[in-house]
Amino acid sequence: MTTDLQNDPNAIKTVVRDYYGQRIQQAGASCCGGGAELTEVQLYGAEELTQLHEDVNTTSFGCGNPIALASLQPGEVVLDLGSGGGLDVLLAAKRVGAEGYVYGVDMTDEMLTVARRNAERAGASNVEFLKGDIETLPLPDNSVDVIISNCVINLSPDKGDVLREAFRVLRPGGRLAVSDIVVDGDLTDLPVSETQIRTALSWAGCIAGALTNAQYRTFLVTAGFERIDVDVRHRYMMEDLVSSAPDGLNHLDSEVVQQLLGRFTSSAITAWKPI
Ligand SMILES: C[S@@+](CC[C@H](N)C(=O)[O-])C[C@H]1O[C@@H](n2cnc3c(N)ncnc32)[C@H](O)[C@@H]1O
Repeated sequence: MTTDLQNDPNAIKTVVRDYYGQRIQQAGASCCGGGAELTEVQLYGAEELTQLHEDVNTTSFGCGNPIALASLQPGEVVLDLGSGGGLDVLLAAKRVGAEGYVYGVDMTDEMLTVARRNAERAGASNVEFLKGDIETLPLPDNSVDVIISNCVINLSPDKGDVLREAFRVLRPGGRLAVSDIVVDGDLTDLPVSETQIRTALSWAGCIAGALTNAQYRTFLVTAGFERIDVDVRHRYMMEDLVSSAPDGLNHLDSEVVQQLLGRFTSSAITAWKPI
């Protein structure tokens, strides 16, 4: 079923919360959508993952590797927006070491339960999972060195608030290193309207709410960030779209679907808060 959620922020959050609350309780979770996209081993490398209990890998829904992007240093304070089952928080905790600290924020109770269990199994004492919305972060101003996030910002109904909040909690000179789904180019040159396309696709599967590259940059600049880079790492082809929006593609003409191939991307976004 396709529903036009785009003008109803509360409905979007309810759909997303329900979807991930259920997905985390199913075995073998992987990637933002249904699982045909990049696997955890492809994203992180087998060596990085062997540092953690194998269960942690199966509670991950990311679409990139923000840990590789963030170049974390010992002693840094890190915040993961939409921390899910906690994979990126636990990998970050190893990089920043005992002198550092890693917060994860997530709005879904079931995710927080699994993340805390994963942290306990990993014996991680420098991590904390907080319940909250990424549009109103439960952390003080200027308190974090690095913000990471993996396939979450596209799910928010208010990306402007998310990036403003990210800027607020970062210390001057702090950085953002995010993996997210981004539209390379735009969706305005197709035989049907952008609204029709986004309505047919899945918000919870991380594609219907994806910003264009230009919109991402505008929100980051408006929030105050500088040295912004948005770099395509993987283009969504047919099997990725089918996986992310199993029902939605049936509502679009096959010619339109062909024209969507390669436009939705997993991208790496980096930006800095001025000193
Ligand atoms: C696609 S999963 C990604 C989870 C994790 N980053 C990973 O890589 O496995 C999205 C996560 O973001 C959380 N989330 C989505 N929108 C949110 C919001 N507006 N505020 C807080 N958490 C949110 C969901 O509950 C879910 O755990």
